[in-house]
Amino acid sequence: MPKPSLAHIEEIEERPATCALRLQNGMLDDANAGVAVATRKRRRRVPVAVGSAEDYEETCLLGEGGFGTVVKARHRATGLTVAIKRLTPPDADSQTAAASISRLAGAGSCGLEEELLREAWFHEACGGSGHPFIVGFRGLVRDPAAAAADLGLVMECVDGPSLHDYLRQRRRRRHGGARIPEATARAAMWQLLTAAKTMHESGVVHRDIKPGNILVGDGRRVLKICDFGLAMATSEAPSHGPAGTLWYKAPEVLLDMRDYDARVDAWSLGCVMAEIIYGRALFAGSYEREQLVAIFDVLGVPDGGAWPEFASTAFAAEAVTELDVRRGSRLRELFPAAMLSREGFQVLHGLLTCNPHKRLTADAALKLPWFAKVEALQLPSEDDVASAFANKELHIVPSASEKRKLRDLRVF
Ligand SMILES: Nc1ncnc2c1ncn2[C@@H]1O[C@H](COP(=O)(O)OP(=O)(O)OP(=O)(O)O)[C@@H](O)[C@H]1O
Ligand SMILES: [Mg+2]
Repeated sequence: MPKPSLAHIEEIEERPATCALRLQNGMLDDANAGVAVATRKRRRRVPVAVGSAEDYEETCLLGEGGFGTVVKARHRATGLTVAIKRLTPPDADSQTAAASISRLAGAGSCGLEEELLREAWFHEACGGSGHPFIVGFRGLVRDPAAAAADLGLVMECVDGPSLHDYLRQRRRRRHGGARIPEATARAAMWQLLTAAKTMHESGVVHRDIKPGNILVGDGRRVLKICDFGLAMATSEAPSHGPAGTLWYKAPEVLLDMRDYDARVDAWSLGCVMAEIIYGRALFAGSYEREQLVAIFDVLGVPDGGAWPEFASTAFAAEAVTELDVRRGSRLRELFPAAMLSREGFQVLHGLLTCNPHKRLTADAALKLPWFAKVEALQLPSEDDVASAFANKELHIVPSASEKRKLRDLRVF
């Protein structure tokens, strides 16, 4: 895929935009508006392609998340297909509005643009388009007809559903309780842990690994992690906005411990592994406290030996009334030997360890015997597994510039 008319990110500074932006060390340095730069330890300019949105013809909606829309588009000159993500201002009615507003707050008039540039930086830091299990990054596009803050993130287009859509379809269509075979789960986890290992070695913590941010591609043979919208650099203090999606959030994040690190991704991957094998989310609370109760109900309440820091949290004092603190882990009961071998359980149990200091890292997990021999991935076929949005006509999702025009006309 040829990059759209390659330019450096510094070009943005030359525009008569509302503020000047530089992409440095995962943070944006806004000299004019004084936006905070979390770390200045290691300044690194990253060249990012900034092309014109007019070079692409948008064809259909691929997905919609809490923060943006992703459309399929065709590069007019070459005919190549890409996916373009644009961030949308938080919708006051949406369930994720609170998180969106919190994520975008404080970034001034360039908030959306900065968030997208941050996302671009994390893609670049992880190798751009060179990793088989991380969605490929092609550059940025700007709509020349639109006002400022209308950047699009151009990615490789992954042709399948998200893992979330895939697993949901399997749940709906399951006959006779057929589960995904252990060898398939192992191949899937090998790909995901390999992606996480690369991210962490590149100084990036994803912070929102979940089935909705994993794309199934190449005829169900490849999984690719996408959506760096909540990522942080390991050199940053872990305080940039909300971190993750409730069901996949690590206990230290739920307990509001501020010094968490890449091991939050290892926890999320443990939750994803459980979901692939079990068929549904293992810990499914409705709010943070309930989520913690759900976790400790399965894994047991950590004692002082298992996790010394836990005892001093406010939750630990209160949880005694809601949980049987004497009961140990029920994880093996839920994943018996018939469902998951001893070697497989070692990985699951290691990733789902409450104390982050005792939790398996992605690198350590990949060295365990379960991964000594990994088959090629081939997720079972589901004829009608498809993104809930597949083939919807684009006209139902106006672009940001179209929305503005329609708003002016009071049509939208
Ligand atoms: N490169 C891609 N190729 C195909 N589909 C994609 C691609 N990137 C994203 N999608 C689809 O769009 C959806 C939303 O994308 P993404 O997760 O990046 O947006 P978001 O608004 O940040 O989501 P979230 O709700 O997780 O915060 C994905 O779940 C997926 O279905
Ligand atoms: Mg997402």
